[in-house]
Amino acid sequence: MAVKETSITYIDGKMGRLFYRGYSIFDLAEFSSFEEVAFLLWKNKLPNMRELESFKKTMSEHRDLPDQVMEYLTNVDPSSNPMDVLRTAVSMIGTADTSQDDIMTKSIKLTSKIPTLITAFQRIRSGEQPIPPDPSLSHASNFLYMLSGEKPTEIEERAMDVALILHADHEMNASTFACLVIASTLSDIYSSVIGGISALKGPLHGAANSEALKMFLEIGSPEKVEEYVYKRLSRKERLMGFGHRIYKTYDPRAIILRSYADKVTKLKGNHHLYEIARKVEDLAVRTLGEKGIYPNVDFYSGLVFYSLGFSPGFFPTVFASSRVVGWTAQVMEYLNDNRLIRPKAIYVGDVEKPYVPIEDRS
Ligand SMILES: CC(C)(COP(=O)(O)OP(=O)(O)OC[C@H]1O[C@@H](n2cnc3c(N)ncnc32)[C@H](O)[C@@H]1OP(=O)(O)O)[C@@H](O)C(=O)NCCC(=O)NCCS
Repeated sequence: MAVKETSITYIDGKMGRLFYRGYSIFDLAEFSSFEEVAFLLWKNKLPNMRELESFKKTMSEHRDLPDQVMEYLTNVDPSSNPMDVLRTAVSMIGTADTSQDDIMTKSIKLTSKIPTLITAFQRIRSGEQPIPPDPSLSHASNFLYMLSGEKPTEIEERAMDVALILHADHEMNASTFACLVIASTLSDIYSSVIGGISALKGPLHGAANSEALKMFLEIGSPEKVEEYVYKRLSRKERLMGFGHRIYKTYDPRAIILRSYADKVTKLKGNHHLYEIARKVEDLAVRTLGEKGIYPNVDFYSGLVFYSLGFSPGFFPTVFASSRVVGWTAQVMEYLNDNRLIRPKAIYVGDVEKPYVPIEDRS
């Protein structure tokens, strides 16, 4: 049963096509930026030049974190799961936001702040000082700048921008549904996003990207791929970053990310990981393709995030930093015609059982 009608994202799982507001993901990944895609998903139109400039300026003005959030990032146990830290920090940002802003404005503000808190926590964890945002940089470029302290190259910025575009929305996935359930009670947008983060944290949803990367690191060299893949499949173990509930062919996002994984691994001197990934892909598609099991977005995204400087534990947070746009866009669309989401369960237990006093129970 469908939870709502939507004009935000359409997935054609049979043909491997994905559209945001009717635009092909291939065109958006080639010609667009994260800010432009966020504008499109939230406002249902591509911005003109003037609108985009003003929107980018607004986003760049909201990158700073409230003091208490920065304090929390400094004092929290550095070994905490970055998704737990993100969830708590978003809750603190929500508590600090006492404005009467509408959901759209709050969503823009939150999306602008999340990269600041992700990069601050990764740096604090490795004993480095957080780097304040640079308002002259684009969302993707500033994200990487706050991570390393250096302005990214054109290839790095573009890889980050495209990765963010590709993760921005994906119709009614588990985390988006969690956001809608919360929103449907007329709770606030921060609570919805916290629900989304909590659902995305699970290894069946947002954490498969780091598992795929771990697999490439474990294989170690392209010559070892064949033995590894056959061994794993013969033990009935799954290959991470393969298979999808909706796509029964290539996930278009994997195709797009593959070329960026090639470029950034070359740039960062870890191209052997890309070569391993390509060999795993070829072999696994030959073996599993007839079952409709193909690479999904997580197969190459981990490799891209890793090459751009993110630690594997942070990959799901980068995913969340982009998906927050989809979560909030889907919530706003749902609230236009809200109905409390209250599913049913099929009861299979007894009824009318005689109550036994505790002293008489065996
Ligand atoms: C995503 C996923 C949960 C979708 O599962 P699903 O649509 O319910 O598919 P099923 O679990 O019914 O699997 C169908 C068949 O394909 C096989 N299969 C599915 N994913 C596989 C994988 N990643 N590696 C190897 N075999 C896989 C199953 O073993 C099953 O084989 P069988 O029919 O011989 O028993 C699943 O593909 C998976 O676990 N993938 C790995 C984790 C991952 O990458 N998650 C990110 C998703 S975006």
